[in-house]
Amino acid sequence: MNWTQKPWAAARLPTHSRLLGLSAMAMLCCAGTASADDDFAWTASRLQQEKASFAQRQQTVLADRYDMTDRPATGATMSRGKPLQDGVRVKLPRGVTWERLAMLSPAEIKASNLWPAGFLPLPHPHHEVGGMVFPRVVIAETLRQTERDLTRFDLDFDLPDYFLPEFPPPLYLTTRSDLGDVSQGKLVTLANFNALFKDILNPKQLEGLRLLLTPFPQQQFNATDDRRSLKAHTGVACLDCHANGHTDAATHTSGDVRPNEYRHRIGTPSLRGVNIQRLFGSQRALKSVEDFTEFEQRGAYFDGTPADAARKGTNILERGSQVHFMAEFQALLDFPPAPKLDLFGKLLVAKATESELRGQALFFGKGQCASCHTPPYYTDSLMHNLKTERFFQESTVNGRTASADGPIKTLVLRGIKDSPPYLHDDRLMTLADTVEFFNLVLELKLIQQEKQDLVAFLRTL
Ligand code: HEC
Ligand code: HEC
Repeated sequence: MNWTQKPWAAARLPTHSRLLGLSAMAMLCCAGTASADDDFAWTASRLQQEKASFAQRQQTVLADRYDMTDRPATGATMSRGKPLQDGVRVKLPRGVTWERLAMLSPAEIKASNLWPAGFLPLPHPHHEVGGMVFPRVVIAETLRQTERDLTRFDLDFDLPDYFLPEFPPPLYLTTRSDLGDVSQGKLVTLANFNALFKDILNPKQLEGLRLLLTPFPQQQFNATDDRRSLKAHTGVACLDCHANGHTDAATHTSGDVRPNEYRHRIGTPSLRGVNIQRLFGSQRALKSVEDFTEFEQRGAYFDGTPADAARKGTNILERGSQVHFMAEFQALLDFPPAPKLDLFGKLLVAKATESELRGQALFFGKGQCASCHTPPYYTDSLMHNLKTERFFQESTVNGRTASADGPIKTLVLRGIKDSPPYLHDDRLMTLADTVEFFNLVLELKLIQQEKQDLVAFLRTL
């Protein structure tokens, strides 16, 4: 028997098993005598035993790359009041300052190995096995409300809560902006959505929301032995990741890259403002929310492996009566209020501080940010290749090969303070990190005051 055909043998087990110290021989020897139940219990117990060492490996990389301390900013919060984290968290290589680094050319930075490691692609919490992982707060609240447990027995989420979006996040509807946040401070689930929304949505939108909250089988959460939940599982809902139509920072590995070490870690993007977007997915560039909705169900949930989807219980959505309803609800999700912005997305002079106004001038001037992040929503709806590989040699860390990212869509900056961590793979913890990143990538040579002003402006969007 070929061990890769074992039901619990994940597609990428070869690398994984080497790391776990499990040899294919060891698996072969036990497989013949054990029942499927024993196999599952054995796999679960082995992976649970190995879990701590991989978690430790990831924490070591995080501590090497970032200042991971809890340092809330004063007077700057997300929409419902969670403090933003302050300061640059990416660590500098020994012996250089940000100012010195900015004076070097990309080739010099690469030759001297001075690219800060925190600017490299961030590995998934356990990159070799990948798949969807939920932050602890999400698991706890989902369990409390719906008795559905999103815990994986083989791995935990890796970043502390203070670097994540507020949870549960507020929910704003384009159709009822008079109401402000309509979530009433709750995580919207199957258990409460009807009471919360029956009087403010039409029946079609309500049905779309119900489908977005309904769990369906996925790669790691299903009823087969090839799952990563201890108990057979009903699955995962769209809004388990896009909590309240925003994001809870659940992470994943992108389905569309092979081999595995080149796959991007991929943080859940907010669905706020999908109505003004033209490209969906950081690299897939699908052209409609409808397409993305269908696509998530059929393939992405299963790491882009349709055969797994068929085996584990994929749920094919019907375009006319389901996909459109779900898309219609998604299109109602609005950005959070930005009281300092005018109708063109620019600062209202009477409301803005001096620093914010200077930051705006930099954003549209010396910083060149607006050539890609165009107002009023601060995206040009295009993909751009930032070519960060100009700055570093390819190398592999924790199973992730740092390499060229390729073209990525211009992420929307409207409401950006609510969506840490930053970049498609969550490699940057704070807005100050994003400014240092673009200062090098665009070779801007900003001075300290200019960087602070840009951060102040980003917080107003
Ligand atoms: C496991 C977490 C998870 C679940 C469950 C999930 N998504 Fe996503 N969603 C993501 C991630 C991660 C991306 C980014 C993908 C990429 O960049 O390639 C994404 C992207 C999207 C986008 C494109 C947003 C943009 O700005 O480009 C839409 C629309 C979307 N999801 C809708 C859905 C729908 C509808 C469902 C349910 C059918 C769903 N998602 C289920 C994590 C999830
Ligand atoms: C050449 C186009 C381009 C320019 C110029 C540009 N950006 Fe971006 N920006 C992008 C792209 C593409 C991404 C997504 C990159 C990724 O995820 O790897 C991005 C991402 C970001 C993010 C993170 C968004 C998120 O949701 O995580 C921030 C913040 C940001 N840019 C700020 C800036 C600032 C500030 C400037 C000017 C100093 C700037 N950008 C200039 C294209 C650009």
